[in-house]
Order: sequence, then C-alpha cells, then structure tokens
Amino acid sequence: MKATVTAHSKYTISRIDDRVYGAFLEHLGRAVYTGIYEPDHATADENGMRGDVASLVKDLDIPMVRYPGGNFVSAYNWEDGIGPKEDRPVRLDLAWHTSDSNQVGIHEFADWCETVGTEMMLAVNLGSRDLDAARNFVEYVNHPGGSYWSDLRIANGRAEPWNTKLWCLGNEMDGPWQVGHKSAEEYGHLANETAKALRAFDKNLELVVCGSSHADMPTYPQWEATVLEATYDQVDYISLHMYFRNPEKNTANFLALGQKLDDYIGTIAGVIDYVKAKKRSKKNVYISFDEWNVWYHSLEQDKKILEGDSGWPHAPALLEDAYNFEDVLQVGSILNTFIRRSDVVKIACIAQLVNVIAPIMTEPGGRAWRQTIYYPYLFASLHGRGTALNLAVESPTYDSDIAKDVPYLDIAAVHNEEEGILTFFVVNRHGSETLSTTVDLDGYDGAKIFNHQIMVNDDLEAVNTADNPDNVIPQSGSGIEIKDNTIVMDLPPYSYQMIQLKV
Ligand code: AHR
Repeated sequence: MKATVTAHSKYTISRIDDRVYGAFLEHLGRAVYTGIYEPDHATADENGMRGDVASLVKDLDIPMVRYPGGNFVSAYNWEDGIGPKEDRPVRLDLAWHTSDSNQVGIHEFADWCETVGTEMMLAVNLGSRDLDAARNFVEYVNHPGGSYWSDLRIANGRAEPWNTKLWCLGNEMDGPWQVGHKSAEEYGHLANETAKALRAFDKNLELVVCGSSHADMPTYPQWEATVLEATYDQVDYISLHMYFRNPEKNTANFLALGQKLDDYIGTIAGVIDYVKAKKRSKKNVYISFDEWNVWYHSLEQDKKILEGDSGWPHAPALLEDAYNFEDVLQVGSILNTFIRRSDVVKIACIAQLVNVIAPIMTEPGGRAWRQTIYYPYLFASLHGRGTALNLAVESPTYDSDIAKDVPYLDIAAVHNEEEGILTFFVVNRHGSETLSTTVDLDGYDGAKIFNHQIMVNDDLEAVNTADNPDNVIPQSGSGIEIKDNTIVMDLPPYSYQMIQLKV
C-alpha cells in the first residue's frame, strides 16, 4: 500500500501550546498514596515523595499537572489538606468509595511540582460546594499575605504565593455520577458567578469551564452551547474528556476512535464559534482536553471496590490498567490529533500520571516502571514543541463501526524553529500491510535525518511489568532515507515511529 505526504515549511496550523503535554493526578487509588507519596519508601525525600517516581516524571518534562480531581474534587474540602498532618481528618471519598487520610494536600503537591519541575493546574469543587470555598482556595494559593487565607498559608509554612494561573471550575458537571451534578443551566450560572468572583480577585487567571465528559453524553453538544452562553465572557477554555476503550478487542474499531476524537474537537470548536458570533465577541475561547487516555483494562477488577463491597479502603489498587502495545498506537494517534488541532486545543492532560490509568506504575515499597504508553507521550512532550505543519496527506482508508474513511496513515509534523528540527510522528494503523510512504519536503532543502525511533511488536497484547519493564520499548529505526528532498520510508504494519530531521 502507498501513501504520499507533502510538508511545506510555510503551510502551518498553529504554534503548539506546550501545555497540550500536561498530565492529571487525582486523589484516586494509588495515584497519590504509594504513587508519588510514600514516606517509608527507600527513595523518599524529606517530604515523603518517592524519588524513583519523581525521576520518571521529570524525564517527561510535563508543563503542568491538573490536581486534585477528577470526580474526587466534587466532594473535596481543600482545607482538610492543610495544617499539621496529625490533625488532618480522614474523609470518605464518595466518588471512588475509598477513604483519604489527607496526608497530601496543596502544600505537599505544590512542593512535589517544584521537585519535578512542573506547574499546577488546580480544580475547585463546584459539586458539593460553591464559589465561597473556591474563592478562599484561590486566595490561599495566590494572595501574597495580609488576608485571612493567605496568612494561614504563611503560618502553614509557605511564605510566597504559588501564583497558579490555571483553574478548573469543577469537574464533569454534566455527569449524573458526579457529586453535585447539575443541569447545563444550573452549572452555567454557578460557573459564571464563580468565574466573576475569581476574576475580581485576579483578572489574569485562566479559567476552564466544564464541557462534556464524552461525546456520547445525551446532553452533548447542547451542554457546551448552554454553558458557554452563560460563561463566555468570563472563561478562557472549555474542557473536554475522552477515554478510549477496546473491550471487544477489535483493533480496527479501536484505532478508528481517533476519527471520533477529531470530530469531537471539530464540533466543539464550532460551538465556540457559534457562541462567539452570537455574543458579537472578539474574545477567543479554546479547548482544554484535560482528561484523555485508554481506559478499559481494569474496569472488571474495579467493580468490587466501586460498588462498595470492600468498605472504604485507603489507597487501594484502582484503575490500574496494564497498557499493551496496541495502546502505544492509540496514544500516538491521540497526541497526533492534538498537534493537528493545536489551533483550538491549547491544553491537554494525559489521565492520569501514576498508577491510575497511567504511564508510570509502582509497587508499594518497591519498584517503579514505565508502561508501554510512556514512550509516545515522552516523545511528543520532548519533541512535539514548535509549530504544527498542515500536511497534505493521501492515504488508503478503511471503514469501521466507529467511522468511515479512516486513514491507515496517521501522521503529524512539528517544526521547532528555534532548534532547526522537523519531527514527524507516524502511526501505521494497518495490521498486515506495510505502508510505502513518501514525504515531500518543500522549503526544507538539505534536510537530514538524525534520529529515528520505532515501536513495533508482533504481539498487540505485549505489556511491561515490574519484572520485565523493557518488554515494549522504542528501538533505533533504520531504512529511512531522503532522496531529492523526499523522505522515502516503509512503515511496518501496526507501528509507531518518530523521525527527526535537522532542517
Ligand atoms: O480519570 C478518572 C476519572 O474519569 C476522573 O475522576 C473523572 O473526571 C473521569 O470520569
């Protein structure tokens, strides 16, 4: 099979916002406790944070991490996580039927962010609480001093404000499973009033209003229209979430979900434009895709805890998906979609970061390792920064139950002008055919390949484990050449590749 691509240096989509390579960490399962935090661990620092995990996180160079939820945030009292640790209350977490010791709160999380070199993206509780708790939290985190909440932060050991700019106005408020779930009208009103109060405190905050939990929600996409009509002037982003599932083990359908993602983004971009026009506004609102990942491997094993049959355990194993090689292809395609839609998607968070549907896994008291999906995320985060090119792609396609005309070739290109590097991220979605592909390089005379990484595996189900952490890892690629300013490459069936050129 053949595919042809043209890359032109002047035919661009947008400067990519680095924050599309963000991540998400929730008080859920072992994400925090025995994930990032384990005071008795051999590698723990003076704050009780695991050094082995921090090191794997640092390597990803994540611009910001969304915290503390997720569904958890909708019944969370942020004040429970401040002050002397021995005085902090144990609370029941209604979202995941567990309990939380509150040994990690905003101070511990902020310190950890400094350790791993990332920024915070914080969510306020608009489920069980309202704008009062939200404005107090923002004042605690961002006010220099001389007010009740900022002085309390200082008394609790943090003199300087953290100056967190990005705030989520609740989480998945369209979902009936959410504590304090609301109609679009109710939520739109509350989000707008909360945003007004937060802006009265600091007009430069960047505020994210909740969009749909997924594109099959019965309220989608009217939810976005109603919520944006209520909040357009006060917010900067509308959040979208999507999880990718393959319970029937149908790889063609699974890999076609990338098309659904693209349609989802396109639809909400249209809704934003509609509301902007209706309001005669000059202001832009963008998409914050602040939860995305493959999530289905663990659904069955989690039922017992989620249905309450295990009582209220603290930090049990929950949502511990073991990612396989097939998921590498999916995560590669998702990230390619964000690059291609970088004109509207300015923020995105892989959900989540450690142990809970995560690229990094740990054993309590033991080892930490990289899951298969760590690698496409690593490559995109490190090398996907710059300007997205608008490639002209001609690829054979297939029809699936999810979408028609799904291209076998999934490709995105990023030009890092500062470093003179052009990077291609490429997925062959075909299970048995090699894609003989050419990429014409217009405006990139003399380009030379200097780095080629490939992930390919005969076994779609291959995983990494603590005992075999390097079962699915990238290898240096070969056999790609540039002839007459055209890349000539054969893409093996079911493969993910990154190809970097000096330009
Ligand atoms: O990431 C797991 C959960 O998925 C989050 O808590 C919630 O926002 C979403 O439904």
